[in-house]
Amino acid sequence: MSVPFEITGTDHLGFVVGNARQAAIYYQERFGFTPVAYRGLETGSRDASAWVLRQGKITLVLETPLKPDHHLNTHLARHGDAVQDIAFLVDDARRAWEWTTGHGARSVRGPEVREDAHGRVLLATIATYGDTTHTFVQRDGYRGVFLPGYEPVAPTQPVEGAGLEFVDHIVGNQGDREMERVARWYEEVFGFHRIWTVDDKDVSTAHSALRSIVVASANERIKMPINEPADGLKKSQIQEYVEANFGPGVQHAAMYTRDIVATVERLRRHGVEFLEIPDTYYETLLDRVGPIDEDVDVLRRHGILVDRDDSGYLLQLFTRPLQDRPTLFFEIIQRRGARSFGKGNFKALFESIEREQARRGNL
Ligand code: FE2
Repeated sequence: MSVPFEITGTDHLGFVVGNARQAAIYYQERFGFTPVAYRGLETGSRDASAWVLRQGKITLVLETPLKPDHHLNTHLARHGDAVQDIAFLVDDARRAWEWTTGHGARSVRGPEVREDAHGRVLLATIATYGDTTHTFVQRDGYRGVFLPGYEPVAPTQPVEGAGLEFVDHIVGNQGDREMERVARWYEEVFGFHRIWTVDDKDVSTAHSALRSIVVASANERIKMPINEPADGLKKSQIQEYVEANFGPGVQHAAMYTRDIVATVERLRRHGVEFLEIPDTYYETLLDRVGPIDEDVDVLRRHGILVDRDDSGYLLQLFTRPLQDRPTLFFEIIQRRGARSFGKGNFKALFESIEREQARRGNL
């Protein structure tokens, strides 16, 4: 189904956090994002502060309520630090809002023009799974650093970037038997199509399993895997997430790099922790994926995983959770032709995650 608006990319990921000023330093120092804009008391924003960080085409917005009756406190209390909004860059925000709310989406905020000396933008927001929202951002040639209401900031010390270029995909975890309903919602509301699926026969270890459907926009600039837990001997990592998050939410955002070895070297040097992959994974790697350009010893040293599909191969790895709850994490991904999501790595990954679940008392 075609829709009468186009999503040209992920405009930003909107986080709600307990202390945006400190979280900004974490994403700057650990992941190489540069702070570019701010709003808060000093700019006349009395209810909430927000820090905007950027790397390549990836923009993170970290927002913290400043008053006890602010609506974002509900999100913060329930989910902890989390992604609350996946904002889409669109050619026509009004039409996107009218179409999606006319096809089953619940409106959160109707179309609203915001203007300052740098131009105008049009914003509108709808609800999706859990307490997550999608904001439509129409920029109309806006020349400011982010959005009206924000002022530019510069980092207090030089930022060493990590080569992260754009959001490759954003994964939403759902509760039991909710995946199909959510995937269908994206088909009906956004005209997304299914590009990939995983069922529990593909992906199960002795203990835990998941099912996944990947939905994508017509131009495939937006790719959203939708997961649900599957029955295993022990608790699925998806179930652990849904319990820790007190509901569905964003499980991971995958950041694209064109040089995963350089990116991961930089991230590790700045203290980013990744899931540990056993050496045995690498002993049979080339038998599984065939010839690759990278040196297997280098991949082993960094814990980088490889998978192949009909169109090529990909390299990927996953951070540990980014906050105390076992909820949001980042994936780092480099695609060398492959268009899929690393099904061949799920078993090794799940075994790694299960070791961590056991340490958390959640297996
Ligand atoms: Fe992923």
